[in-house]
Amino acid sequence: MTILRDRIEGLKKEFGAAADRVEDSKALEDLKNKYLSRKRGLITGLFDELKSLAPDEKREAGKQLNEFKALVEERLKSYSDSGKLGLPVKPGARSKLTPPPGSAFDLTLPGRVRRAGAAHPLVLFQEKIEGIFLAMGFAVAEGPEIETDYYNFEALNFPPHHPARDSWDTLYIKDREDLLLRTHTSPVQVRVMEKKRPPIRIIIPGRVFRRETPDPTHLPMFYQVEGLVVDEGVTFAHLKGTLEFFIRALFGEKIRVRFRPSFFPFTEPSAEVDIECIVCAGKDKACRVCGGTGWKEILGSGMVDPQVFKNVNIDPEKYSGWAFGLGIDRTAMFAFGIPEMRFFYENDLRFTRQFDLK
Ligand code: PHE
Repeated sequence: MTILRDRIEGLKKEFGAAADRVEDSKALEDLKNKYLSRKRGLITGLFDELKSLAPDEKREAGKQLNEFKALVEERLKSYSDSGKLGLPVKPGARSKLTPPPGSAFDLTLPGRVRRAGAAHPLVLFQEKIEGIFLAMGFAVAEGPEIETDYYNFEALNFPPHHPARDSWDTLYIKDREDLLLRTHTSPVQVRVMEKKRPPIRIIIPGRVFRRETPDPTHLPMFYQVEGLVVDEGVTFAHLKGTLEFFIRALFGEKIRVRFRPSFFPFTEPSAEVDIECIVCAGKDKACRVCGGTGWKEILGSGMVDPQVFKNVNIDPEKYSGWAFGLGIDRTAMFAFGIPEMRFFYENDLRFTRQFDLK
């Protein structure tokens, strides 16, 4: 570093300290003259000295000096902008913005930019689903994430030790064999039917838990939305018509939908619903999204089993109903083309800001 550049550095510190001490417009004017006066200003003097330097030095020191000058001008301008210059100032008066000596706050610092947030893609998707069902006259219900064996299994017609329980890998609460993390939103069907008599038309969004090893399409925690309709004269045609309408509202009029026979202890008959792969439409045998089948399973459904009605004292001779449970995460992954379920839970703003369903 040249001597000139050392001096610029030194002056910078000196200027900073002097600027911190400025309390009135007189001091400000003096400081301005001391550094920027065309004839006697320190910076003007330094520019004169530049001329005698070797070209390389001149370029470096010149750059530094110009930066220093800009800094001085900027700082002095910030004082006049904040109303200091021109204000009638009592000697020794302190501006409201100048922190008292030793204060931790400097109110003259620029504010922090507040960036607008964005709704999480799972929230957006859940709200979209809720909107479609609300428009059809459904209400939204919720239930607890910690459940009893009774609500999660027993009342849903899973007898104790029944092998069907194995498909819901369950996380139990330590030292409490009767308590578990709900493996699906279906227990809330039972809770609602215990309290409310038909007609019932509800959806139940919420978090569910299973003992899964995380991979691109499985996590030990994910979201489901349950649906339940109970009334007199409800048939499988209602189930089919409503779910088809829902899926078209979500994925567009043209999407193809397929019902496949299935089994759940709490519905009879039961069906799983697949939608056409929107990535390859069945044309890519190696499609990573549908595995080449051309279909993607999104929900399980069926007619409420009479035994479940008996468990909640609803007369199965008089009432019938249907229910469904949809995996929100996997359906949202499919809809948005997200290859990895874990992205939803990593809180990386670069990911979560990308989605907009409007
Ligand atoms: N609860 C079932 C599951 O988690 C889905 C389902 C809900 C099936 C309602 C039928 C009726 O797989």
